[in-house]
Amino acid sequence: MPGRPVPEPADGRSPGIACVTARILRADRTAVTRAARMLAEGRLVAFPTETVYGLGADAGNATAVARIFEAKRRPADHPLIVHVADLEAAHRWAVLSPQAVALAEAFWPGPLTLIVPRAGHVHDVVTGGQPSVGLRVPSHPVAHALLMEFGNGIAAPSANRFGHVSPTTARHVADDLEDAVDLILDGGASDIGIESTIVALTTDTAMLLRLGGIGADAIAGVLGHPLAQPDSSAPRASGTLASHYAPRTPAHLVDHDVLRAELAQLEDRDERVAVLARTAEPPEAFDGVWLTAPLEAAEYARMLYANLRELDDAKADAILVECVPDDGAWAAIRDRLTRATTGVDDDCD
Ligand code: TXA
Ligand code: MG
Repeated sequence: MPGRPVPEPADGRSPGIACVTARILRADRTAVTRAARMLAEGRLVAFPTETVYGLGADAGNATAVARIFEAKRRPADHPLIVHVADLEAAHRWAVLSPQAVALAEAFWPGPLTLIVPRAGHVHDVVTGGQPSVGLRVPSHPVAHALLMEFGNGIAAPSANRFGHVSPTTARHVADDLEDAVDLILDGGASDIGIESTIVALTTDTAMLLRLGGIGADAIAGVLGHPLAQPDSSAPRASGTLASHYAPRTPAHLVDHDVLRAELAQLEDRDERVAVLARTAEPPEAFDGVWLTAPLEAAEYARMLYANLRELDDAKADAILVECVPDDGAWAAIRDRLTRATTGVDDDCD
């Protein structure tokens, strides 16, 4: 809609959201240019990253950033990640220690978020009033093109309703946020499928706040020592809430060996069940929804949120998720499954 005037925000919501429904555009050059212009106008643009889709606003515009919280229904004190084009741009948002620079050089662009002391100009609405800011340089070509074209930082959480499963396609974003977002750039399905690893570098001790796309061992390799677990001095991170990344249907983690018995019990009670299996086979005459997830960790992660969304859409009474292996390659997946379900690790052998 070139030339169309941007309606004034009549009710404090995003300009135009009362009359314009979310539009998904294939992320070609023209669409990226339009998206950059919309960000500059203070509007919300969802865009693909290699981890999950982000819901972006101009990180330098406090009013625009405030709209993200409204669209997501996210508590106002939860800080956002500022996405930047490269390490040079990151220096404009934070004070980067030699440790931070070493991690950035090793893993950017890519799925690593660094929590670092913020620069003076960074708005409180971005940081949740904390003295630190989260920074990430995404590797997805569309995210990179958007950041280059926009020329400033983009504050963006995952583009889902607060607490819900993160989106890995443009369709997921539209399903969750509908007309609360002004434009959705469609860059296909996210490659990694789970969120970035978050490391806090706000004290002398590097702390792992969230497992994610980069393994803790790889980070420890660059630092020369293992990452510490968060203590009381750690910055707050909502992705570490016990219940997060969750489907709406009650979901449970179940070990392979007891899956059949659990299914039989639920079916005896006439409950409809949706299953995310990996190695298990459906029993004969099973009439719920059965998805078989990939055997390998990276593939499993790539499909995880799409699978959880599909099972949720089945409107079953319960979702059962077969446990995954207990080794390093699966650590981030186990973390997300534990938060998405009522599960504790003890449910898995
Ligand atoms: O992969 C990702 O990280 C995706 C893509 C879009 O980049 N983003 C994402 O954002 O997962 P979000 O908001 O859903 O999760 C970011 C996490 C939250 O748990 C937030 O609390 C934490 O990062 N965070 C951001 N800034 C922080 C800060 N200054 N201090 C502590 N935690 C922070
Ligand atoms: Mg999120």
